[in-house]
Amino acid sequence: MMKLIAGNWKMNLTPSQTSEYIKAFLPLVEGIEDREVLLCPPFTSLCVAQEALKGSRVKLGAQNCHYEERGAFTGEVSLDMLKELGVSYVIVGHSERRWLFGEPDELINKKITACLHKGIRPILCVGEKLEEREAGLTFKVIETQIRLALSGIEEYTDKIDIAYEPVWAIGSGNPASPEDAQLVHAFIKELLSQINPRHEGKTRVLYGGSVNTSNAGSFMAMRDIDGLLVGGASLNPETFSQIVKCF
Ligand code: PGA
Repeated sequence: MMKLIAGNWKMNLTPSQTSEYIKAFLPLVEGIEDREVLLCPPFTSLCVAQEALKGSRVKLGAQNCHYEERGAFTGEVSLDMLKELGVSYVIVGHSERRWLFGEPDELINKKITACLHKGIRPILCVGEKLEEREAGLTFKVIETQIRLALSGIEEYTDKIDIAYEPVWAIGSGNPASPEDAQLVHAFIKELLSQINPRHEGKTRVLYGGSVNTSNAGSFMAMRDIDGLLVGGASLNPETFSQIVKCF
């Protein structure tokens, strides 16, 4: 699997700012073929982004989805709607969804299941809170989140990617050390082979949480870090292109 560098814009950039961003970004990453580059703008920018990305290798992802196909779910967006806009990845279970919007593991499981059904590759986010880390519960929390997210769909481990994002590292300017992240990434890979005895190792495990241009390369130098999920530092095309090229 190619390494994956993904930008999670969160609730930033309007449609017109999105087209300006992409106009500036594409020339900066032109000719890069040995890694996958993914932009995850807000829903309102997907249409413009699809248009602007035509003919480029940069992929389009969404930050969330609903698991039902259609119906009375005010404010929600289905996977068919996303697919028609060229979306091939969806971020599921981001810590902001879990902790600001109260998404439980069972909802995350439904979303992952729906993505697999529709042929969209989910990026499942997991991560411990600071108090959990300090209580020595990091591995236990990660294991529980992954087991619950994959409950009933254990044989599809190769069809998802996972982002390890310690909650305390997100948007804090205080990233995990590459060595600490490496330990968790290796643990996640081992866990996937336990969950699915036929796991082929196609799941990329990305690191996320205060990634920037100066630390990106040291994360990518770690054996089990297969990519990055970048928030704040993905909002500027120049900065994000440097992260894309950090290894
Ligand atoms: P950050 O966010 O890079 O701004 O810390 C990462 C994320 O939440 O995906």
